Amino acid sequence: MSGLLDDLADIGRDPHRGGYSRHVFDDADRRSREWFADRAAACGLTTTTDRNANLWAWWGPPGPDAVVTGSHLDSVPGGGAFDGPLGVASAFAAVDSLRHAGFRPARPVAVVAFAEEEGGRFGVPCLGSRLLTGAIDPDRARALRDADGTTFAEAMRAAGGAPEHLGRDEEALRHLGRFVELHVEQGRALDRAVGVARGIDAHGRWRFRFTGRGDHAGTARLDDRRDPMLPAAALVTAARRVAAATPDGRATVGRLRPVPGGTNVIASAVDVWLDARAPGDARVRDVVAELTGLARQAAADEGCAVAVTEESRSGAVRFDTALRDRCAALLDDAPALPTGAGHDAGVLAAEVPTAMLFVRNPTGISHAPQEHAEPDDCAAGVRALTRVLRELAAP
Ligand code: GLV
Ligand code: MN
Ligand code: MN
Ligand code: MN
Repeated sequence: MSGLLDDLADIGRDPHRGGYSRHVFDDADRRSREWFADRAAACGLTTTTDRNANLWAWWGPPGPDAVVTGSHLDSVPGGGAFDGPLGVASAFAAVDSLRHAGFRPARPVAVVAFAEEEGGRFGVPCLGSRLLTGAIDPDRARALRDADGTTFAEAMRAAGGAPEHLGRDEEALRHLGRFVELHVEQGRALDRAVGVARGIDAHGRWRFRFTGRGDHAGTARLDDRRDPMLPAAALVTAARRVAAATPDGRATVGRLRPVPGGTNVIASAVDVWLDARAPGDARVRDVVAELTGLARQAAADEGCAVAVTEESRSGAVRFDTALRDRCAALLDDAPALPTGAGHDAGVLAAEVPTAMLFVRNPTGISHAPQEHAEPDDCAAGVRALTRVLRELAAP
């Protein structure tokens, strides 16, 4: 990792799942934030936390037209080392190299780490950037619950924050001039060390709650059961089928919760979380509509009910063409690629010119402990980001 992530290597390791589990306001998150402040101080930057739990490190006083770069430090459950932290660590490394070269920016430069990008604890991805831009209602954010029933507001307060101040942050947005996020590439789309992002596919998360009747696994007659696991299983297989029939569609069930969850207990309810993605908003809508219809039918066939809740939805994003072309030109005509992964950059793109740099991922594996990027490619990413920052912050 070219040493970039060495200081983060022990923070949030997950001995049960492998890889890393770092979730907003947990102990790993607290240690990641300490790392951020230490790294900022070592680069001569001043750290602030905004009202939405996002971290900022400023080169020069915060002010308008700032060039902002960064990513996130949280992970999916059992995630890799690179998704998120690579963008933050590379941002510090790029600023450091500009400072050592004696570069004097003509406008403020800041490194940012957005909170709860993966939605790994409270279910809504890019929560910090959505709150910052007002893309989520703060009342809704405050009431989000983790798997233990703790609300976002309670967790934030326990971590020393003030959830009553959550919401669109006009002051922070006034400072934002341009945003550039460096990220490990997450598919198999990049055959050079560094590329730029063209856009992000539409995506979202839906929770299907199937309700049946809890009963005894040994004594309840098969034809007498209302077992919600059956329509849940039907949804899982239908998701693959419907996505396969949709051009560039993807639909995934990576999380499922039977209630109460006992081997010898017919569940009384099952929650199934569906992640659906496709290049266009309409295609995602169609996939979810078709799966909702199939889920209703499968539930009815088993005498069960189903309720569908949209937990998050992100429209397709096209990044600012002028900024993208400018970055690509600086980087020896780096290739431009679309991505199926969500990013805070996709949220910020609605507010300011935004670009993304991707660092090659040799296997394409991501959201898993095997996620990898070669040290030489990471170093090339830092050099690329340094070049972009130098250009954007120049007089
Ligand atoms: C975030 O990485 C996502 O695309 O889910
Ligand atoms: Mn991710
Ligand atoms: Mn990420
Ligand atoms: Mn018994």
